[in-house]
Amino acid sequence: MNKEKIRFAIVGCGRIAQRHAEHIDNYGILVAVCDNIESKALELTDKYIDVKLFNNIDDLLKEDLSIDVISICSPNGLHAEHSIKSLNAGFHVLCEKPLAINVHDCGEMIKAAEKANKRLFAIKQNRFNPPVNAVKDAIDTGKLGKIYSVQLSCFWNRGNDYYANSWKGTIDIDGGTLYTQFSHFVDLLYWLIGDVKNVHSFTGNYAHQGIIEFEDTGVVAIEFYNGAIGTINYTVNSYQKNMEGSLTIFAEKGTVKIGGQYLNELEYQNIEEFIIENLPEGNKPNNYGNYQGSMSNHDKVYQNLIDVLQNGGTITTNAFEGLKTVEIIDKIYYSAKKVI
Ligand SMILES: NC(=O)c1ccc[n+]([C@@H]2O[C@H](COP(=O)([O-])OP(=O)(O)OC[C@H]3O[C@@H](n4cnc5c(N)ncnc54)[C@H](O)[C@@H]3O)[C@@H](O)[C@H]2O)c1
Repeated sequence: MNKEKIRFAIVGCGRIAQRHAEHIDNYGILVAVCDNIESKALELTDKYIDVKLFNNIDDLLKEDLSIDVISICSPNGLHAEHSIKSLNAGFHVLCEKPLAINVHDCGEMIKAAEKANKRLFAIKQNRFNPPVNAVKDAIDTGKLGKIYSVQLSCFWNRGNDYYANSWKGTIDIDGGTLYTQFSHFVDLLYWLIGDVKNVHSFTGNYAHQGIIEFEDTGVVAIEFYNGAIGTINYTVNSYQKNMEGSLTIFAEKGTVKIGGQYLNELEYQNIEEFIIENLPEGNKPNNYGNYQGSMSNHDKVYQNLIDVLQNGGTITTNAFEGLKTVEIIDKIYYSAKKVI
C-alpha cells in the first residue's frame, strides 16, 4: 500500500466510535460513517468535515469512496456480519472486541479475510499497558521461568442504568459479561500464560435479575496446555464502583501482580535477580461519564494498523488470537453451572 493517508469508514457510531474517529483523524482520513440511527452518525461526525453518512452498511460498501479500512464499532453480535460483508467487498477490517460471540463466526471471519486477501485486525488494546508489556517481556525472555499458577480478578461495577435501553445485557447481541466487560482480560491470560485446555465454572446473576439475560458473576478454574493452572473471579457487582482488574502470576523464578482497576499498575514484583523498572506512564482508561472502561490505547491500535498496512509490520492482535479469546469464553460458558 502506498504511503498516502489511509482512508477509513466507521460502522456503528456509539461510544467507542468516538475514540476511533479521534485517532482516525490523527493518523488517517475519516471518509464515511454508518449507523442505523441517523442522529448517532450525525453526532459522531459533528467535529469532522467531508464525512459521508450512511444508515446501512450495504449502501456504504457499494459506494466508490476509495476506502481502505472499515472500523467495526457496532454491537458484539453484529461484528461477524459487518466484518464479513466488508471483507467480501474488498476492504481491510479493524474489528472491535470481541471478534464475535461464538467460535464459528470467528472462523467465518478469518476465512473471509483469507479469501479476499485482506487483513482482519482484532482489538485488544490492554496489551499495550506498560506493566502488561513489561511482564510479557519478562515471561518471553525466561526471567520468570516456568509459570505455575495465576489468578485473574475482574471486579467492576455496572449498574442497571448501564444496561437500560441497550443491546448490552442481551444474550443474542451482547453474549455475556465475559464478552463485553472482560474479554480484554481473558485475552491477556491467553497472551501471557497460554492456551486453555480445560475449564470448570460456576456463574450466577445475583444483582441484575430482570435486567440482563446472563450472569453478572462467575468463578472459573482453568488448566492450561503448558501445565499451569489458574482461576478467574469476575463480577460487575463491585459495590458502587469499579474496584480492580488484576492478574497475579506465580512462577518458578518470581511472583508478579499487575493490578489497578484496569491492569494498568505493577502492584507487586519479586523476581530472581531482576527488577521491572522505569515503566512509562500509560494512557488513562476510557471514560464514559458514569462508568469507566478499559485502557484507552486505541492510538496504539491505529499506529499498529498503519505500520502493518504501510510498512510491512506485524499485527499486534491478529484474528486468530481474537478467535482464541472467544474460544476460551465459549469453553467457560459451556462448562458453567448456573447457580442463580
Ligand atoms: N476496546 C474497548 O475498550 C471497547 C470499549 C467499549 C466498547 N467496545 C466494543 O465496541 C462495540 C460498540 O460498543 P459501544 O459501547 O460503542 O456501543 P454503543 O451502543 O454505544 O454503539 C453501538 C452503535 O452501533 C449502532 N448500530 C447498531 N446496529 C447497527 C447496524 N446494523 N448498522 C450500523 N450501526 C448499528 C448503534 O446504533 C450504536 O450507535 C462493542 O462491540 C463493544 O464491545 C470496545
